[in-house]
Amino acid sequence: MKRTQAIELPAEEIARQKEVMREFAALADRPKTYCVVTYGCQMNAHDSEKLEGMLHEMGMTSAASRESADFVIFNTCCVRDNAQRRALGNVVWLKELKKERPELMVAVCGCMMQQPGMGEQILRQYPFVDVAFGTHNLYRFAELMLRAVTSRRRVVEVIREDEGSIPEDLPVLRSSPYHAYITIMYGCNNFCSYCIVPYVRGRERSRASARILEEARALKADGVKEIMLLGQNVNSYGLDVEGELSFAQLLEKLDEVGIERIRFMTSHPKDISDELIEVMAKGKHICHALHLPVQHGNNRVLQSMNRRYTRERYLERVARLRERVPDISLTTDLIVGYPGETEEEFEDTCSLVREIGYDSAFTFIYSPRVGTRAADMPDQIPEEVSSRRIQKLIAIQKEITHERYAAYIGQVHSVLVEEASKRDETQMAGKNEYNITVNFPGSRELIGQIVRVRITSAGESTLRGERID
Ligand code: SAH
Ligand code: SF4
Ligand code: F3S
Repeated sequence: MKRTQAIELPAEEIARQKEVMREFAALADRPKTYCVVTYGCQMNAHDSEKLEGMLHEMGMTSAASRESADFVIFNTCCVRDNAQRRALGNVVWLKELKKERPELMVAVCGCMMQQPGMGEQILRQYPFVDVAFGTHNLYRFAELMLRAVTSRRRVVEVIREDEGSIPEDLPVLRSSPYHAYITIMYGCNNFCSYCIVPYVRGRERSRASARILEEARALKADGVKEIMLLGQNVNSYGLDVEGELSFAQLLEKLDEVGIERIRFMTSHPKDISDELIEVMAKGKHICHALHLPVQHGNNRVLQSMNRRYTRERYLERVARLRERVPDISLTTDLIVGYPGETEEEFEDTCSLVREIGYDSAFTFIYSPRVGTRAADMPDQIPEEVSSRRIQKLIAIQKEITHERYAAYIGQVHSVLVEEASKRDETQMAGKNEYNITVNFPGSRELIGQIVRVRITSAGESTLRGERID
């Protein structure tokens, strides 16, 4: 069933939260400085920008270091076991700091909190955590903090809500003046067998296109040069709302706003439409870079993963993309050691990677997540087998990256200059249209500008060049 409109939280609720932020700021006895520690994907990075926006409204400023902050908040990820363990390990590290400084406040939020039983576990095992909440009630952060500070009691609130809602108009503190994230949709409906994201982020819900366009125009007016549209599966944007634009139509409208660069992630290969490919081909500002996670190269595994495309279909989509957008730079995510993966099946991933020639790839060892279908499958692959396979895959991709990057030598790329090298003030770094870091000699005045750079050499994960204008 499609909704008739985007499920936004009532404006009065956000207004009430802003009121609470001001109330918090007026407290005499409250933390003054904060540190936000972020794990996971861009979605979480953007949530942290919202947390920082709220923290500023609550009268706090960013601390010089994690050790000196009055308040430390961990925005966690649980997509793989190591992501979760890293986050928890750091939370425990704070326990010691809190012994020295009992007034230190600690909060934990994000995807990890949204797993069943996690709220109780935090209460039981982590008595030094003052505040904990999940992804669905991030907008209530100020209220939870106010309650914790004024009652001097621990506050744990995780809403177990599959549907989810959309909070509009929360304050945001962007981490860069030149690029900005725009969430276009929340949640995921795909339920890939290995993945926990649909359980911790709820169902797909698209923001109203009018809101997105309004945000993009405001960012342009603010001098933003690059926007990154966010969603777990941006290609299904709008499908949940009656009469809403499709992703391709939204992209076309955003292109007209005139921001220099538009990127988006993540695209699910099953819904890369011809319409979208055309918009990418014709767009003036849409970067010719696409992150298109394939996960695996074998059809039995893809089917078991519930990815809903075959190797052949994926190759066909890539061929179409390359035909219409010949310079497109493709990147991907790959999983090795999925339950039951045989040596031959793994080889299919290797051959697919060779056949496609990605600019780069993120490779992951399959990590069982409680509550997902794959976690209960027989034939879980031993760690030593997965490790050997991932090493092989990394080596293959490394060679391909080397070849792909070498082919960029001699080309002129546009680079959005972001920073000077930490080691050498005369070396600037930024991203080209393909999202690859390019280093070149220059000066700090160029930061925030888009300049033309001729590529002169290629490193393992970066390019080097010379400015030509
Ligand atoms: N929505 C995005 C990806 C989100 S998670 C998409 O569909 O592409 C980012 C990546 O983490 C996935 O692409 C996948 O490669 C990896 N991943 C997710 N769950 C995993 C698991 N249980 N074990 C190992 N890797 C996993
Ligand atoms: Fe996870 Fe699949 Fe959804 Fe991506 S599309 S978030 S991999 S369930
Ligand atoms: Fe991790 Fe949540 Fe993103 S589980 S990958 S932070 S959506």
